[in-house]
Amino acid sequence: MFVDTRQAEAAATDTRDTEAIEMSLLLEAVYQRYGFDFREYAPVSLKRRLWRRALGEGLDSISKLQDRLLRDPACMERLLLDLSINVTAMCRDPTCYLAIREKVAPLLKTYPFTRIWVAGCSTGEEVYSLAILLAENDVYGRTRIYATAINQLALDQARHSVYPLDRMQEYTENYLRAGGRRSFSEYYVAAYDGALFDAALSENVVWAQHNLAQEGSFNEFQVILCRNVLIYFDKALQDRVQRLFYESLGRFGTLCLGNKESMRFSAYEDSYEVVDGEAKI
Ligand SMILES: C[S@@+](CC[C@H](N)C(=O)[O-])C[C@H]1O[C@@H](n2cnc3c(N)ncnc32)[C@H](O)[C@@H]1O
Repeated sequence: MFVDTRQAEAAATDTRDTEAIEMSLLLEAVYQRYGFDFREYAPVSLKRRLWRRALGEGLDSISKLQDRLLRDPACMERLLLDLSINVTAMCRDPTCYLAIREKVAPLLKTYPFTRIWVAGCSTGEEVYSLAILLAENDVYGRTRIYATAINQLALDQARHSVYPLDRMQEYTENYLRAGGRRSFSEYYVAAYDGALFDAALSENVVWAQHNLAQEGSFNEFQVILCRNVLIYFDKALQDRVQRLFYESLGRFGTLCLGNKESMRFSAYEDSYEVVDGEAKI
């Protein structure tokens, strides 16, 4: 019995080690073949997503997925969607938008022109939410929002500014909880089963593909919003991205993180002052 348990444990360790090797080879292959670098993503969620793609492709090992990825760019596109986790919503976490409205927008009013970077903007919901908030505070007209994401398909969707009509009730509630003062439906027209957002809201938005794991900064910003992105990275990559943000912010710049993210234990913790702890600003 004792020997059986030890053998079973040894076999389980072997499987885990083999899988870790397969994962690392796959990530290296993806990097060499397509240039996408997921080598420093948090391993637990990465493994779950790789397995989801493998099973979705009808494959029973990570190595087989690697083989398919090397030969089939369409499979890479599908994996990219799985890995870049595009879950998002308008005025997601309304307390954050309320805090931006009450504490950040007044500061922006003091600048003649403002550059904001929304890093990891997914399909754009966050960007339209921010544009609405800035417009309601009379600063949108002198703001440029640089909205970036790793995934081109997500950005294409963002540019179209059409979102499912059946989410508008949830978004309206978020908007009101975020201090919205109008009727949310003023910002879109219903077309078939989609809600098409006012083109004026993206007039000052530059959409661009940008990989936080590999690319540097491209401007100096007064505000950087990067919410619910760092959680997917391991500590080393989080540190590099924190450095990128620190170097991309102008003096007295503002950084907004997701509600499970924090500056604690980052090398730049002491370089920031908390504007709103709950809202992670
Ligand atoms: C869960 S979504 C968050 C979207 C939005 N910020 C929000 O909070 O609703 C994660 C986003 O991170 C982006 N992302 C993941 N890895 C990235 C990377 N290496 N560089 C840039 N964006 C990345 C994905 O494309 C996706 O848009």
